[in-house]
Amino acid sequence: MKAKLFSLLLLPSLSWAVPNISDGKLLHDESCAKCHHTPYQSLGWNEMTNRTELRYMIEACSDHFQLEWNAQDVEDTEEFLNTEFFLFD
Ligand code: HEC
Repeated sequence: MKAKLFSLLLLPSLSWAVPNISDGKLLHDESCAKCHHTPYQSLGWNEMTNRTELRYMIEACSDHFQLEWNAQDVEDTEEFLNTEFFLFD
């Protein structure tokens, strides 16, 4: 019983924590590719140098275009763009 309760509590938090690259690709293709193209193209003056900057700009662009993305959407897209293009870490 105890173990069951524990796994029930753990499940949603686990699926929340893991970034999902294919969701990130969908989100990007739907909302970002019309400007940044596929594969992704940088449009900025300032080159991104780490993941914190990348995440900040994803938040900035998704806020600016009023996409109402949640933290998971931002994280998925960060993971996708990092894997596909930026290759930080
Ligand atoms: C209407 C066009 C447009 C859309 C849609 C758009 N962006 Fe951008 N984005 C830009 C422009 C223009 C810049 C450069 C801004 C600057 O450097 O001041 C930029 C900059 C960025 C940067 C920073 C550096 C770089 O690589 O150019 C990132 C990361 C980024 N956008 C991600 C996204 C993501 C993720 C989305 C989807 C939520 C998105 N953008 C949607 C136009 C767009």
